[in-house]
Amino acid sequence: MSADAKKLEAEILAAIDAADDAAALEAVRVGVLGKKGSVSALLKTLGGMTPEERQINGPLFNVLRDTIAAAIGAKKTIIDAAALNARLAEETLDMTLPLEVDPQFEGRIHPVAQVMEEIAAIFADMGFDVAEGPDIESQFYNFTALNIPEAHPARQMHDTFYMQAEEEGAPLVLRTHTSPVQVRTMQDSAPPFRFIAPGRTYRCDSDQTHTPMFHQVEGVVGDETTHMGHLKHTLEAFLAAFFEVENIAIRFRPSYFPFTEPSMEIDMQCHRDGDKLVVGAGDDWMEIGGSGMVNPHVLRHAGIDADKYQGFAFGMGIDRLAMLKYGAPDLRAFFEADLRWLKHYGFVPIDVPGLAGGLSNKSLTTLTSAT
Ligand code: DAH
Repeated sequence: MSADAKKLEAEILAAIDAADDAAALEAVRVGVLGKKGSVSALLKTLGGMTPEERQINGPLFNVLRDTIAAAIGAKKTIIDAAALNARLAEETLDMTLPLEVDPQFEGRIHPVAQVMEEIAAIFADMGFDVAEGPDIESQFYNFTALNIPEAHPARQMHDTFYMQAEEEGAPLVLRTHTSPVQVRTMQDSAPPFRFIAPGRTYRCDSDQTHTPMFHQVEGVVGDETTHMGHLKHTLEAFLAAFFEVENIAIRFRPSYFPFTEPSMEIDMQCHRDGDKLVVGAGDDWMEIGGSGMVNPHVLRHAGIDADKYQGFAFGMGIDRLAMLKYGAPDLRAFFEADLRWLKHYGFVPIDVPGLAGGLSNKSLTTLTSAT
């Protein structure tokens, strides 16, 4: 090797030795092996040499380049290991500190959403589908098809929100109940029917137990033989599963709804102990919804042969069910979007309600709500 090359090698090895972090080493590498680096420049001189000179210098320069590259590689390993050791020494984990709350435990499922999931899980287990309909509804579906003709007092009783937009010459409405979904769903399918329709409903009303927007669940079963015994059993089975008790008796009280004949209020067995309410025991009763056998007029509006098919229907307030089950006293608070309220009454997202895993498994809520 020429004296120059020897000197260059010594200089470079010294520079590599002196580089004490990754950036300094990289600077040396670029200065030596980069496009304009000193060793690269040396290699380029081979082109201008005579074949004899090239025969001697070529291998020498290549050895020089390989030696330097190996030295840089070795130094890099040392620097990386040192950097890792420094990081490990610096980043300590203080096991005495409490764990930070995992973000997945921070959000909460609203009790109404939770109860809707619970209701869907119970009825799905009984073979019901979940049907949906629009919140903005025509007067035909909200009233007429449900056997509530125009001058009928029931239309006034519904405290309806009327929209400016019209359909077929009549203002659209915010649906006052989930019953219109009965007609829409029966229209779009064929018997036998077995569905629930949970959703938002609207009435111009506000006090401790009424909000202008609230939630109902409708249920319909229809075929050639469905009768009131099926209705009673379905409601009892649902309520026992929902309130997570062995049995709940219900009783029917005669009532009137234009869309059912006969029509009954549903009362659920309960027991009041001061402020405390116990369901599924005792000799008191609490109204939780309306029901009946679907009026043949409604079946006909849905295009169903009312001489061949019959069915039952029921409607319940979801918010009311949530208040009863989870002990929230004021309905208005449900819709005030107060995070403190939601943190108290809400559910942890991963506690998905299911009949097998527990309907309202609040174990994780309890676990994390202390934080
Ligand atoms: N739609 C009624 C309401 O909002 C509730 C209801 C009563 C629904 C009886 C039904 C029923 O399906 O059969 O007050």
